[in-house]
Amino acid sequence: MTILYGVVVHGGAGSPAELSDGCKAACESAFSLLEAGISALDAVAEAARILEDDGRFNAGSGSVLRLDGKTIEMDAGVMDSENNIGMVISIRGVKNPVLVARAVIATPHVALSGQGATAFAKKSGFAPFYQVSELALERHKRVKQLIKEGRLGEENSRWKGYDVDTLWNSDEVSYGEVFSSDTIGVVAMDKDGTTAVAGSTGGSSPMMLGRVGDTPMIGCGFYAGPACAVAATGIGEEIIKKILAKTVYDTVLSGDDIKTACEKGINMYPHEIAVGLIGISKTGYAVTSNRGMASYALMREG
Ligand code: GLY
Repeated sequence: MTILYGVVVHGGAGSPAELSDGCKAACESAFSLLEAGISALDAVAEAARILEDDGRFNAGSGSVLRLDGKTIEMDAGVMDSENNIGMVISIRGVKNPVLVARAVIATPHVALSGQGATAFAKKSGFAPFYQVSELALERHKRVKQLIKEGRLGEENSRWKGYDVDTLWNSDEVSYGEVFSSDTIGVVAMDKDGTTAVAGSTGGSSPMMLGRVGDTPMIGCGFYAGPACAVAATGIGEEIIKKILAKTVYDTVLSGDDIKTACEKGINMYPHEIAVGLIGISKTGYAVTSNRGMASYALMREG
């Protein structure tokens, strides 16, 4: 198989198949941009924006809450094989973190965080935005219940053996309720053979304020180079520890096809750690996860 151009979209490790219609809409939109000769970078940013606006995914309008039950902090990253890189970390009060990350590319920096990222977004014309989705409220309720029952660590391995009250880092005492490691991600290759990746997330709850996962970390949640583009999803802490996206990239460099490389990436984790990967190269594409994962792919093959 030779891929002339194409797009792959995922809705997060553990996302139900019913959400594939959202992935399809985002994928079709990005694919039509590629057909029109638009760059892979702009195509992945557009697909990620559509998923952020969908409201059913843990990104943008659907972002989950922090443990205080009211704060939304989001992460996003974009990259292409031309070495264009933009990241926003713990950004608040914007609708589309991925577009802010895309805008960071035009600055002297590659990453902006916290208040500075939000101020940059405002200065760049992104309207203030705050919305708590039904999904976020539902998840917050679940987390609260688990904390109350002292079972947080049972259902989330990251919290095993930790005391939420000791670690809690906000004056607010209201715990959010969430279970989520979902993130949205897109990889694409354009007609010039340039690859690109975009990822966006509200984080993997339950989370302390300021917690950052893999999604805005180059080489962890995303990587794009001449060989392929890779996006990861799942428990950010575990993905970071294995520098997952770059590890998969390097596996392709050493001769594996993208599907084999992604499968090897997933197989580095025990089943209890939710993880997913998508990738695209000139010779194929991959959608792999140790959970269900809504996804969609469109390719023009030659
Ligand atoms: N994979 C998203 C996160 O852990 O934040």
